[in-house]
Amino acid sequence: MDVIEVEGGHHIEGRVLVEGAKNSALKLMAATIMAPGVTTLTNVPNIADVHVMGKVLKELGATIEVLDEHTLAIDTSSVDRWETPYSLVSQMRASTAVMGPLISRFGKAIVAMPGGCNIGARKIDMHLLGLEALGVSFRIDHGDINASTPQGLSGNTVMLSFASVGATENLMMASVFAKGTTIIDNAAREPEIVDLATMLNEMGAHIVGAGTPVIEIEGVGELHPVVHRVVGDRIEAGTFIAAGALAGGPVTVDGFDPAHLGIVLRKYEQMGIDIQYGERSVTASRSGDILPVDIQTLPFPGFPTDMQAQTMCLLALAKGSCMITENVFENRFMFASELQRMGAKITIEGHHAIVRGVPAFSGAEVQASDLRAGAALVMAGLVADGTTVVSNIRHIDRGYERFVEKLQALGAAAVRTTVPDEDVFTD
Ligand code: UD1
Repeated sequence: MDVIEVEGGHHIEGRVLVEGAKNSALKLMAATIMAPGVTTLTNVPNIADVHVMGKVLKELGATIEVLDEHTLAIDTSSVDRWETPYSLVSQMRASTAVMGPLISRFGKAIVAMPGGCNIGARKIDMHLLGLEALGVSFRIDHGDINASTPQGLSGNTVMLSFASVGATENLMMASVFAKGTTIIDNAAREPEIVDLATMLNEMGAHIVGAGTPVIEIEGVGELHPVVHRVVGDRIEAGTFIAAGALAGGPVTVDGFDPAHLGIVLRKYEQMGIDIQYGERSVTASRSGDILPVDIQTLPFPGFPTDMQAQTMCLLALAKGSCMITENVFENRFMFASELQRMGAKITIEGHHAIVRGVPAFSGAEVQASDLRAGAALVMAGLVADGTTVVSNIRHIDRGYERFVEKLQALGAAAVRTTVPDEDVFTD
């Protein structure tokens, strides 16, 4: 089993380039199903989740040529199956993103029902309700969602009760070929939604309003393959900005749009972190104390839940107390217990975490509960007294490309090592 060992106290500074966004690449890959032929995606991160989505597409009959480490040519002309089994969905929930495209292309789909995960129940009821409004019928059979469209797909107005990213994406993709106009009200506004709508429009779709709460889709007859570049990963960027802020910096993070981290960067400035804005980069550094600031996670443009753990890491060392409120995923405070093993003082009350700043962390053996928590624990190790050993790092591999190498290039004393299973505290 692999672990990451970090020796604290090494200054980090320099420049780091972020990859394309995981949460965009996965959905863009799924969307290629709708445009038979070869779509080329560039700036695709080389991470475990992308490999799983590759397996999902191959299972459906697609072929994938890796043109270079970050460029995939996906040929969906011979996709002739519409079933995604639990063996793949259980590896990655985002596999359910093929449901909309399969319904669009074949009028049917069989997708395994995802189970719960470490950060919450993560229901998909809004996906199903929205798709039903477009004419999809569902049967749940032996753990599979069996979708069919007895009367075809027709545009409709769908009001989401929460601005769900996944539901907005599945609905947007399912309505591209629906007869007439579909309106998604209270749609998610994440940059990854805009990226998906942009590619679908390049393919010939008629989607307006992506990035606003109301998305309007006018049905079209067909889509054609394109070449598309995946948007830069704002969460990977935010993670390295947080690391630079924590360990001093300056760290320049390149390859993303700083507007995609709007509220995060404003909060970091209130925390006493110096943020310099470039066109496609941000430089973060800190010379004084971290100031306590309350945070609450919300759908975009609110504070992203995917930056909550990394930010808790900073606030746990702040000069004073503050509250973090998690409004998106109910179980996302598992990370706090691990950080407490490193000396943090955090009290959890429902979806609130009261964080009382301590002067320093002490290195400990800790486990990643999800990918952002994993990255945050490695970050905490950068400034901890002694050595921190982070296990369960398969979570980090899901979403961060060469995480340890990038930290090493900034000067961190982090290494990835393999330890015999019996020596590691397991799941
Ligand atoms: C996506 C991102 C994830 C990010 C999250 C919120 C991917 C692969 N993952 O996840 O990294 O943390 O957005 O920004 O893109 N919900 C329901 N019913 C539904 C759908 C969602 O109750 O049908 C709930 C979820 O349980 C959760 C909340 O709504 O509590 C938000 O979920 P959603 O925005 O859909 O997140 P994902 O698309 O799963």
